[in-house]
Amino acid sequence: MIFQPLNNELVFRGISAHRLAEEFGTPLYLYDEEILRKNCRQLQSLSQLDNFTVYYSAKANANIALLKIIREEGLRVDAMSLGELALEEAAGFTPKEILFLGNNLKESDLFAVSQKKIQVCLDSLDQLKRYLDLAPTTQPYLRVNPGVGFGAGHHEKVITAGKVKFGIEVPQLAQAFRLAKEKGSEIKGLMLHIGSLFLDPTPWLTAIAGLLELAKQFPEVDYLDFGGGIGVPYNRQNEQRFPFQEFGDKLDLLLTAWMKETGRAPQFAIEPGRFVVAEAGATLCEVQSVKTNSGVHFAGTDCGFNFLLRPELYEAYHEIIKANNLNSGDKLRYQVTGNVCESGDNLGKDRLLAKLAPKDLLLIRDTGAYGHVMASNYNAMPRPAEVLITHKGQARLIRRRENIADLLQSQTI
Ligand code: LLP
Repeated sequence: MIFQPLNNELVFRGISAHRLAEEFGTPLYLYDEEILRKNCRQLQSLSQLDNFTVYYSAKANANIALLKIIREEGLRVDAMSLGELALEEAAGFTPKEILFLGNNLKESDLFAVSQKKIQVCLDSLDQLKRYLDLAPTTQPYLRVNPGVGFGAGHHEKVITAGKVKFGIEVPQLAQAFRLAKEKGSEIKGLMLHIGSLFLDPTPWLTAIAGLLELAKQFPEVDYLDFGGGIGVPYNRQNEQRFPFQEFGDKLDLLLTAWMKETGRAPQFAIEPGRFVVAEAGATLCEVQSVKTNSGVHFAGTDCGFNFLLRPELYEAYHEIIKANNLNSGDKLRYQVTGNVCESGDNLGKDRLLAKLAPKDLLLIRDTGAYGHVMASNYNAMPRPAEVLITHKGQARLIRRRENIADLLQSQTI
């Protein structure tokens, strides 16, 4: 999110924090169009190869307005549920631009996707068999589990190699290929995803080299997908950025050498989610109460873990800064919390901020990925609105705030 201090408050491409709060209410999810586009373009420049495609992993944020921009920038998209698929279709993605990559899918989901002629990637022998029974003329892809020690990620909950539910283990792959042949089909692609948020590309390159090696055994494969996981430095003071150029160069060297050795030129792909949207987003919230309990200064806001789950679920760090009254005197160390009825309802601990008072605005940075998509109605609170700050400096509502009627609507009384 791009902003700068002006007249003692933060201003977003000319629009002040207090104006956004007044017009749209808080908490408020904000996105910056320019940054979103810049991230897409950077990804498009990662590889110099013509047979390299970038899919956006829409689980990070599936707001239709953002998906439209991502599509305009030429990225394709993955979907892991019929819901994501519907949002992507609404954003204009065509079947050819979508990769359906779920796990433990219902037969009705598999059938619906096969009817739309969307490419499917499956992650178990069961699913492969069930899918081919439903759609014998299709040629699915398979997700490989690279095995213990080949994962990476910011938390054990998001490492996806080894003793986790994802993918087919390498020793079972030959069986999967045989099964497909017996059913008159062929496995045309292999993919892996080692986990989410790494800033060191080494484990990813190792896994990619492993998948390339594996693919040598299966000449019919013409699609190799290396998943997502590119991290962003949420803690700017202590973390380095992902070495994008260096990774791109090494990747191209690997892929080029493999193509030369095998004489094959498959489609290569990656599917990052977080990298595309995380830093394009931020959440504006309002302080409701300030108090000191047992020596801890608490700043209680209107943004609970129901609206930003990452700090609570993964002990994830999001930078929190003041968005108004920037020079309100001495600094204090605060525990910033929300308004949910649980002691674990924290946005950040031990945060040094200029003295806070009720009605002060705070900006939680880098919430564009796995922010609004992971919000819930816990404690029966309507979910926040989302606003796009366009490159022309206009604030455009791209999702209205839910209201109490929304909460009542789906219940049978
Ligand atoms: N491909 C597959 C198969 C995935 O499972 C994921 C993420 C991605 C791509 C995109 O990964 P990314 O580039 O965004 O790291 N809620 C967690 C992250 C969960 C990631 C799940 N899978 C968080 O807030 O950190």
